[in-house]
Amino acid sequence: MKYRFRSPGRINLIGEHTDYNGGLVLPAAIDKYTYITLEESRHFMAYTVNLKERVEFSLNEKKEKEDWANYVKGAIFHLAKNIKKQIRPFNIEISSTLPIGAGLSSSASLMVGIIYAISKIENINLDRERIAQIAHEAENEFVGVNCGIMDQYAVALAKKDSFILIDASSGRYEYIYAKGFPKIMIIDSGIKHKLSSGNYNTRRNECEEATKILGLQFKDLNKAFLESKKNLLGENLYKRAKHVVEENERVLKTIEAISRQNWEEVGRLVKASHASLRDLFEVSTVEMDFLVDNINKIDGVYGSRMIGGGFGGSVIALSKRDIRNDLKGISKIYQNEFGVEIKYYPVKLSSGVRKM
Ligand code: GLA
Repeated sequence: MKYRFRSPGRINLIGEHTDYNGGLVLPAAIDKYTYITLEESRHFMAYTVNLKERVEFSLNEKKEKEDWANYVKGAIFHLAKNIKKQIRPFNIEISSTLPIGAGLSSSASLMVGIIYAISKIENINLDRERIAQIAHEAENEFVGVNCGIMDQYAVALAKKDSFILIDASSGRYEYIYAKGFPKIMIIDSGIKHKLSSGNYNTRRNECEEATKILGLQFKDLNKAFLESKKNLLGENLYKRAKHVVEENERVLKTIEAISRQNWEEVGRLVKASHASLRDLFEVSTVEMDFLVDNINKIDGVYGSRMIGGGFGGSVIALSKRDIRNDLKGISKIYQNEFGVEIKYYPVKLSSGVRKM
């Protein structure tokens, strides 16, 4: 018997590089998915339709040489570890409409999807938060990326037409229904974003160092205190900390603006977030800055910014009208300038992982 599941990718409206600092994030799932089909089998087998690669593996701590297979194996390995039970083997087929390495959490989509699927088939009683936490543990420990909890929570918990406000310090979350929300376009810069490449962990370490010097966690920090300790931190750590403190404030302001359906204000906050990620947190790229600058000039655009970990990946744009024609023009100039092609597609806010 075959079982089919669908696990979404995610965007983050605002609240970037705040989750691992115990801050606020505002992600949502999108209508681009990882599709996972499972069938009982004598061995663990995984096949990716997109890459046309097959891997047979057994459930141990050893890493596979195929990068993608470690997301599958790591997820199952950590599921077994958490429930303290053996998991019988499956033949797993993965296909995806979610671009990989575009900063849309293809990895969390896959890992949450696998854990959810097996827990459903095997009647393992885990709530969605727990599934997100196991996927998070697996990405941290098995894949070796020290990511925050945002992506897994978004993929596991999302609701249609809503954002999720997550307080990463407590794990508490709340749905923010986004009635009348602007059109959302994702623009993939064509520069691959890869969390495991190290830059992400560097930023994480810098933030940790800043809190050590300050003697306070970010959630207990205010701007005045931060200013008074500027010299102690030094230029670099001060900039990182300033981003985190102000980005948390922007998340709260964004929620307020959504409730008033004030899309100009949401756009202004999104633009401010990008400027901060570029100048203070320094995780943007010239390519993404180019896209954001030019997209912001399009008539009917409220605002745009890079999303996700940075150092490549995608830009999100919020607009009053369909901007695909305008993007065609930007696309040509971009290709001349950077020798890479952008891809763009409208997305809608979707629901979390589910059986099909
Ligand atoms: C990646 C991580 C998230 C989060 C973002 C930055 O997507 O997986 O946990 O830290 O980067 O906001």
